[in-house]
Amino acid sequence: MTDTLDIKITKAAQTRLTVTDFSQLPFGKVFTDHMFTADFEDGEWKNLQILPYGPIPMSPAISALHYGQAIFEGLKAYRQPDGKISVFRADKNFERFNKSAARMSMPTIPEELFMQGLAALIKADEKWVPNQEDYALYIRPVMFATDPYLGVKASDTYKFALLTTPTGPYYSSALKVKIETEFTRADDGGVGFAKTAGNYARSLYPFEQAKKEGFDQLIWTDSASHEYIEEAGTANLIFVINGKLVTPSVRSTVLDGVTRDTIIKLAKEDGIEVEERRVSVKEVIEGIQNGSLTEAFAAGTAATVTHVGEIGYEGETYQLTDPSTRNISNGIAKKLNDIRYGLTADEFGWNWIL
Ligand code: COI
Repeated sequence: MTDTLDIKITKAAQTRLTVTDFSQLPFGKVFTDHMFTADFEDGEWKNLQILPYGPIPMSPAISALHYGQAIFEGLKAYRQPDGKISVFRADKNFERFNKSAARMSMPTIPEELFMQGLAALIKADEKWVPNQEDYALYIRPVMFATDPYLGVKASDTYKFALLTTPTGPYYSSALKVKIETEFTRADDGGVGFAKTAGNYARSLYPFEQAKKEGFDQLIWTDSASHEYIEEAGTANLIFVINGKLVTPSVRSTVLDGVTRDTIIKLAKEDGIEVEERRVSVKEVIEGIQNGSLTEAFAAGTAATVTHVGEIGYEGETYQLTDPSTRNISNGIAKKLNDIRYGLTADEFGWNWIL
């Protein structure tokens, strides 16, 4: 049996719930009343607390700011038909958080700290979990190095925080994506599989360039040849080719997405063949041209299942099928949502009902 941890609770003087418009919830801008924090000092996690959401005082010399020792996660809590709250596949996000921590020379988080901190925070802010179709409470675990020291070494101290924000899907319509063949998101032997801040920082300049050309997002290709599709940065990519689900295999440059894994399991259960393998740009472009590639979508916690509407490659734009006709991805998206929102049996045991 796991011990109950001692979490100090300081309640916000007043709630911001009453002044929050739940019909206007842009992703990641509206935070709940509280946050959870813990400090890693002298080789252990201490000062576990729920406190009002707000600024965290810190030295401008902390190594996270200078050398990028910072990792994060993204998971969601869903309102169930009986009013209860369910967190989806928290164990997978926890596991990945610690994989990222290990790669970035950061301390791992004990499972009970992650889970009990999460449960205590959601309990404190339970009224913030939306009760609207396609909405959820997005949970953002983050850890960063806090040594006020300018030498280049792994920090001895860290802060872990859990933030929560009610939100709808990250994208509101089908995406126009560009296959990126100049810049790269990740390199072999690097940190592409880790959810670390620098992976997102390096994607911003290419993303800004693509936005100027009218694209919503990039499809990253491998750094060695730019011939193989990797992921989209905010989500993994999944294609339907000849009726099979085809997705780039997870490797050192590709994030092991929880939504990707969930969709693979649901597809297999439905008798849909799934191929996890290298997917070439040529196969995708030719597939659109000859009609064998019928569906494409981004899969992520924030992105949920977002159709790819158009793909740009080397100055040409390739139009995909009408998203409303995409039976495989629409079917899987529905099944996934039905499980998350408690509308159908959770046969895999993915919902953690609080
Ligand atoms: C998530 O889906 O949770 C992510 O972390 C993507 C994010 C960068 C928007």
